Amino acid sequence: MCGIYAYLGPRNGIKIALDGLKRIEYRGYDSAGIGAVIDGKIECYKDVGKITALEHAIGSLSSNNVIAHTRWATHGKVTKENAHPHLDENQSVAVVLNGIIENFQPLKEKLASEGIKFKSETDAEVLPHLIAKLYEGDLLKAVREALVLIHGSYAIGCIHKDHPEELIVAANGCPLVIGVGVGETFVASDSNALIHHTREVIFLSDGELAKITPEGVEIYDATMAQISKKTEQLLHSVEEVSKGAYEHFTLKEIFEQPQTVRNAMLSRFFEEYGTVALDGLNLNVNDLLEMQRVLIVACGTSWHAGYVTSYMLEDLARIPTQVEVSSEFRYKNPIVPEGTFVIAISQSGETADTIAAVREIKAKGAKVLAICNVQGSTLAREADGCLFLRAGAEIGVCSTKAFTSQLVVLSLFSLLMARMRHMSKLEGQQYLHALQKLPEQIQSVLEAAPLIEKIAKKYSKYSDFFFLGRRYMFPTALEGALKLKEIAYVNANGYPAGEMKHGPIALINETCPTVALCADKVTYDKLISNLMEAKARHGKIIAIVHEGAKGIEEVADDVIYVPDTYDEFAPIITTVATQLFAYYMAKDRGADIDKPRNLAKSVTVE
Ligand code: F6R
Repeated sequence: MCGIYAYLGPRNGIKIALDGLKRIEYRGYDSAGIGAVIDGKIECYKDVGKITALEHAIGSLSSNNVIAHTRWATHGKVTKENAHPHLDENQSVAVVLNGIIENFQPLKEKLASEGIKFKSETDAEVLPHLIAKLYEGDLLKAVREALVLIHGSYAIGCIHKDHPEELIVAANGCPLVIGVGVGETFVASDSNALIHHTREVIFLSDGELAKITPEGVEIYDATMAQISKKTEQLLHSVEEVSKGAYEHFTLKEIFEQPQTVRNAMLSRFFEEYGTVALDGLNLNVNDLLEMQRVLIVACGTSWHAGYVTSYMLEDLARIPTQVEVSSEFRYKNPIVPEGTFVIAISQSGETADTIAAVREIKAKGAKVLAICNVQGSTLAREADGCLFLRAGAEIGVCSTKAFTSQLVVLSLFSLLMARMRHMSKLEGQQYLHALQKLPEQIQSVLEAAPLIEKIAKKYSKYSDFFFLGRRYMFPTALEGALKLKEIAYVNANGYPAGEMKHGPIALINETCPTVALCADKVTYDKLISNLMEAKARHGKIIAIVHEGAKGIEEVADDVIYVPDTYDEFAPIITTVATQLFAYYMAKDRGADIDKPRNLAKSVTVE
């Protein structure tokens, strides 16, 4: 939540920072601002709304030392005053902050009692006042002393009017990446926003500060000892972070899935033995054999991937598996018995609740495997092992391609566990074969996009939906409903179909359609009975069903056929259809698909 961009170098940093902000706008987009050192003064521009509004306000200003910010409101309403940067009273220091200062209230009261007048309702504003108060000519020292006084997770950028060639940045629990160019330096909350300028990056670790000058980058640890840190190479391409010919990143990412799913499997198959080889697991054979119980923690879409996995690990590997929403789990005082293996799933690797859950679990002694998409992310660094999705940057705020890649990687893990226990080589080979077919099967769902668009248009005026499924199709229904809520702003309830008659069926009538996810073959007949019950109450039915299924056309008003596969992998194929359905519904309703209201891509606050 919130994004930081900064630049120090010979070019016009304002232009570069505005462009950078647009690339991280998905992290928060209710207001934005920019601060720059110009002729011994700090110039600051802020505006509510998208970056383009700010761009118009700034005009043709130029500076070589710039900090910029895009906000997702936590403390204080969406107003120009609450947008970053924040300044001290003398307008000497400007600060942008991503994260939360937990003890801002007592600090604010103390500063106010000393006569300081606050201009905003934000927690962040305490920081420039503290830095200005502690400043005695050394900006790095003042920033460091101010940071000692604050508690919380944050990343910051700071400039001073008397230091035109100095930019200070720091991170603690929120991501910050320094892009090292030739004679110029960039800073961003996300490495995707740097790749247009440089591939050489330094990821700041918790507690680290950096002093950036034209001479280069000096890194300091929390004790202010200067440390040397190697630059890392960014691996992804510029094309991955551009929309190309697609109208939205979300659509581009949905259509990338044949390739991203292929990448998730690439060189991980061990066909001869009907198993897989997972580089990055970082576990020995004994760890894997001694695993008695799996606990999965995640949020949102990643939690849905975990939910599917809980069925799969129990079915295929017979390992008892519990799946928990991180934000609840972290406050449960969880019981983590010996033999528990933990899987933390997070596309970004920065979700605050999942990271907090992982830290709690690690404190109890369990091993944690991360399933992550972002190289260098906090979760990837803190877990004992990490399996990367290799899905490329996911820019659309709603998660699409990351979900299907998570399911593929977790299918591979389940298969490995099953083969190490009771699954035969032949059965393992059959599962591998089914996985291999997924990219082309997803392609055929994508080819049905015109039909799905037609159906979505037919239903786009409805404002309440049920998504029903059983067994593997239940978490798939949760995911389908979430997509419709977040990008089309339509109320959608994901429900296990068998539970409908325990209450929710009261809502079914001709104004509340059901999207029936029918691709779980074990429960197919049971689901059809549940759909009959909805139909008997005048509910419209849109069915997504595997090819060859019998009897669906008598029940459903509209049918989308998807290729058949094992029940375990059906969520991957069915989800592509529900993603397209949500996308076209959202488009017809005129919603802001890539940046849905009130949301941010990485939820880095609790
Ligand atoms: C939904 C969505 C969110 C994320 C959730 C977890 O489309 O994108 O629900 O899945 O915020 O994010 P990660 O996976 O980054 O931990």
